Amino acid sequence: MCGIMGYSGYQEAVPVLIGGLRRLEYRGYDSAGIVIAENGGLTIEKRAGTLDVLVRALNNRRFTATFGIGHTRWATHGSPTDINAHPHADCSGRLAVVHNGIIENYRFLRNWLKSEGHVFKSDTDTEVLPHLIEQYYQDDLYQAVSRALEHVEGSFAVLALALDEPGRLIVARQDSPLVIGLGERENFIASDIPALLPYTQNTYLLNDGEMAEVSPDGVKVFDFNGTPVFKDVFQVNWEAEQAEKAGYDHFMLKEIHEQPRALRDTLRGRVDESCWQAVLDELDLDRGVARSLKKVFITACGTAFHAGVVGKYVIEKLARVPVEVDIASEFRYRDPLINAGDLAIVVSQSGETADTRAALREARRRGARVVAITNVVGSSVAREADSILYTWAGPEIAVASTKAYVTQLAAFYLLAVWLAGERGTLPDDEREAILRALREIDHGVETLLADADRIAALAHRYQQRECLFFIGRGLDYAVAMEGSLKLKEISYIHAEAYAAGELKHGTLALITAGVPVIALATQPDLFDKTLSNIKEVKARGAEVVTLTFASDHDTEDLGDHIIHLPPTHPVLAPILAVVPLQLFAYYAAVFRGCAVDKPRNLAKSVTVE
Ligand code: AGP
Repeated sequence: MCGIMGYSGYQEAVPVLIGGLRRLEYRGYDSAGIVIAENGGLTIEKRAGTLDVLVRALNNRRFTATFGIGHTRWATHGSPTDINAHPHADCSGRLAVVHNGIIENYRFLRNWLKSEGHVFKSDTDTEVLPHLIEQYYQDDLYQAVSRALEHVEGSFAVLALALDEPGRLIVARQDSPLVIGLGERENFIASDIPALLPYTQNTYLLNDGEMAEVSPDGVKVFDFNGTPVFKDVFQVNWEAEQAEKAGYDHFMLKEIHEQPRALRDTLRGRVDESCWQAVLDELDLDRGVARSLKKVFITACGTAFHAGVVGKYVIEKLARVPVEVDIASEFRYRDPLINAGDLAIVVSQSGETADTRAALREARRRGARVVAITNVVGSSVAREADSILYTWAGPEIAVASTKAYVTQLAAFYLLAVWLAGERGTLPDDEREAILRALREIDHGVETLLADADRIAALAHRYQQRECLFFIGRGLDYAVAMEGSLKLKEISYIHAEAYAAGELKHGTLALITAGVPVIALATQPDLFDKTLSNIKEVKARGAEVVTLTFASDHDTEDLGDHIIHLPPTHPVLAPILAVVPLQLFAYYAAVFRGCAVDKPRNLAKSVTVE
C-alpha cells in the first residue's frame, strides 16, 4: 500500500518528508515523490524505484520550503514509472495531490474532465483528483477538495496543497488510513504512525468520512458535510518497530487482521449490485472465449496452489468447465495436454516465483491463453500473462501468506461466477446469493478474528504435539491443505492434510489416543460423510477440533472442540474456515518461540527453482 507524508511548520520540509517516507518503506512501494512550494512555483520530484533514486534526483539541493507532501506508491492502476509516481498536479501546475486507495469511477471522471479541457499525463486513477479539484478551485482549497470528493467512488486517503495557499494542507479519508501528528508550530500527516514517531507521539486518528485542514498553527477536522468534529488526542506509546506492525506483535498477525480490508479492496468495483453480476472487464476475456472454453488449467505453488484447488472446485461447480490444478513445478515437466483455446490461470502473490513463471511460459508456448492472479502490479507474472486479475491485498511482508490467499479465493469466486454467467450455467438467484454473500464475507472474517483468544487457547493446548491431521471433503479438503501448510511452515509442527474419505485406506493407522485432528465440516452435501469420519478418528482416540456451520448437532457428535463459523453461502466457506487455521498456526508458532514472520529455511518469494 502507498505511503503518505505531509508537513507544515517551521523546519525545512524536504528532510522531514524523506525521513517520514523512509519509515513507511516497510509498507512496500515501487516509486516515490515529493512536492514543495517555493520560488513562486511548485517543485515536484518523483522517480520510479526506491527512495534512494529520488534522493539522488534531489541531488543535495537545499530547499527552503517549510511545507510539502511526500508519497511512496504501491502501483495499482498504471505501472511503476516516473510519470505515474505521485504527486500529481493539475493543468495549472498550482495544485498537487497524493493518494492512497482505488478510485473505482476514475475512467468516467477522466473522460468527463478531458471533455472539460483537462490534459492528463499519467495513466493512473489518482490523476483525476488534481484535475477534479482544479475544476472546482476558486480561492479555497478545502472547499474545492470537498466538492471534488463528492464525485469520487472508491477508497482514498488524499493529501492536497495549493501554491496560492502556503502552509495549508487538506486531507480526506475514506477506507484508507491517515494519521495527523500534532507538534509545536508544526503539524504532520502520514498514512501510518511510524512516520510520525521521531517528531511527535500526539496524534489524531482520522476516521472514514473525515477531512482536515492542517497548518503550522493548528488542525481543524470536519466530516464530509463540513460539520466540525472534535478529536481526542491519541498518544502513541509504541516503539518504531512495533508501530510498523500497527501495534501487532508480528506482520503475520497484522496481515491476518487486514483480511477484511483486503477482501473489500479486492471486491471493490468488481460486483455490479444493480444486477448482481461479476464485473471483470480488466480481463479482456470476451463472451466467445468463455462459451467455447473446453478446459481450464490452474497452476501455482504453496499457498497459491491451495487457492487454486479451491478455484478448481468452484469453477467446475459453477461454470461446469473441466479444471486441472497442478503444482507449478509438476505442471511444467509433465508434458501437459494444454492447447490453444484452453485457459491457464497462474496464481502468485509475489508474481516472481520461478516455478510459476516457468509454468506460465510453458502454458503460453502450448498456445493457451494465460490469466494471472497476482498481488504485485508490474511483476514478472503480471507482465507475461495475457490478462491480469489483481488481488488488492497490499504488500504481504510475512513469509506465511494469509491475506493474499483469501484475496486469491475472492478472485477465483469472481472468475467462476463471471464464467458461469457467460456460459449460462448458474441460475440468476444462485448467482445473486453467492455475490451477496461475497460482498458481506468481510464481516464474517471480522467475527472470527474477534474469537482469536479461543483459537490461541487451542493452539496452546496442542503446541507440543508431534503431529496434527487436517481432514475434510471437497472444498474442506482444499482448506485442510492450507491449514496444514500454515502450521508446518511457521510452528515447525508436522501436519498432514488428508481427504477425510481416504483415511481408512491407510493413514488411519496413525490415529491413536490423543492425536489432534482438525476436521472441516462446512459443506452441507458432505456433512454427514465427514461426521462419520470424525467418529472414525474419535473411535481411535483422536482429539477432534471441528470447524462447522452446524449448530443443531450434539457437541459430542461433532468433536471435542467446536469452532462455529458465521453463516455464509457454503461455496464461500473456505474464506471463513481458513481464518481460525491461520490464527491456530500463528499462536502455535508464538508459543513455541518460532520466528513467525521469517521461518527457518523459507523465503517470501522463491525466485529460484
Ligand atoms: C505461503 O505461506 C508460503 N510462504 C509459500 O508456499 C508461497 O505461497 C509460495 O512460495 C508461492 O508464492 P507466490 O504466491 O508468491 O508465488
